[in-house]
Amino acid sequence: MAFQEKTIDHTLVTRQMIQTFVERLGKQISEDYAGKELYLICVLKGSFMFMADLIRELEVPCEIDFMSVSSYEGEKSTGVVKINKDLDRNISGKHILIVEDIVDTGLTLNHLTNLLSTRNPASVRIVTAFDKPMRRKVEIDVHYVGMEIPNEFIVGYGLDLDGYYRNLPDVVVLAPDED
Ligand code: IMP
Repeated sequence: MAFQEKTIDHTLVTRQMIQTFVERLGKQISEDYAGKELYLICVLKGSFMFMADLIRELEVPCEIDFMSVSSYEGEKSTGVVKINKDLDRNISGKHILIVEDIVDTGLTLNHLTNLLSTRNPASVRIVTAFDKPMRRKVEIDVHYVGMEIPNEFIVGYGLDLDGYYRNLPDVVVLAPDED
């Protein structure tokens, strides 16, 4: 889809606020996993920026991997996901931390966590930059949350609208189209 510029309605989360919660999460995760090694899984594409920031705040040895999933056509509400790119390594015995951009209904992560759990990891936890708890359809345990946000569609800091706006350093809400 060609880019159609929209007006920014307001900034919801500034880059300074992001930096503050990334530092907090990095410290907390480093404490919780002290003496262990971490295997971080970045869920593409939205999480790439958060992953890059978070990893620089970690003080435990860690490896990174990338996974790309999409909802099956017409089955969005079930959360059944198709794996477009699987992990590079066997995760048996590893401490897994799934790095997400935003948890909305929770369906994608619910499916992903169940899938990864069948591969015999030592543990599986989730860290997300943003959380919309009001939108949850399934209960999932999100261990680390950067910031809870209201039920608004946000873009920036890796999050997109039709593939665009990921490059915005702040998280913003776009103005609705005028017809
Ligand atoms: P869930 O399965 O409903 O939790 O879907 C989470 C995924 O939906 C995220 O990884 C994002 O790709 C996308 N998503 C949910 N809310 C937003 C938003 O406000 N802006 C951009 N993408 C979103």
